[in-house]
Amino acid sequence: MLRVVVMVSGGGTNLQAVLDAVRDGKITNAEVVGVISNKPNAYALTRAENAGIPAVCVSPKSYSEREQFNEALLAAVDSFSPDLVVLAGFLVILPELLIRSYKNRMINIHPSLIPSFCGKGFYGLKVHEEVLARGCRVTGATVHFVDEGCDSGPILLQKAVEVRQGDTPEVLQRRVMEEAEWQLLPRAIDLIANGKVAVKDGFAQIL
Ligand code: GRF
Repeated sequence: MLRVVVMVSGGGTNLQAVLDAVRDGKITNAEVVGVISNKPNAYALTRAENAGIPAVCVSPKSYSEREQFNEALLAAVDSFSPDLVVLAGFLVILPELLIRSYKNRMINIHPSLIPSFCGKGFYGLKVHEEVLARGCRVTGATVHFVDEGCDSGPILLQKAVEVRQGDTPEVLQRRVMEEAEWQLLPRAIDLIANGKVAVKDGFAQIL
């Protein structure tokens, strides 16, 4: 069984998609063993509790030094002994040690087709606002492994989503979630849990 820890900051709809997929047997050979949030009132924590999964909050506000927070965050992740760490809307700059410790064992979901509309500052509605401002006809979502850069690690899965006339950033965000994110993230975990993914020379391969 692949031990999965999910890290969140907000509503946790991607977390929910993963929990539902495990329950429905769409993800096999994996269990979500813990959820970590940096925000004490993230609704994702409630979703975890409702599913009977241990959930902890590690808030930067509880520490006077960033280094102390970084250590606490790594300790929280390690405490679950995960095989895979899933960033599902985790809006924190990751400590380098965490990235190094979980190299090729940490994935992130990003709400655009990387390398478009990604990198520093591209999170939340901003991504979809910029897609609309550029007049794109398609956007989508990407699941990638996490490396030291921002949204720069090996790409595992991508799915395109149509941009429609009259879309608002909110409408587009919702469509990207429904048609891409909530499908890609469970699929990525299922592939990894079933030994169907290898990372070699900076590229993810589906075996
Ligand atoms: C999603 O759009 C995800 O792609 C991004 O943050 C958002 C999280 O939403 N990284 P939710 O908390 O899963 O609802």
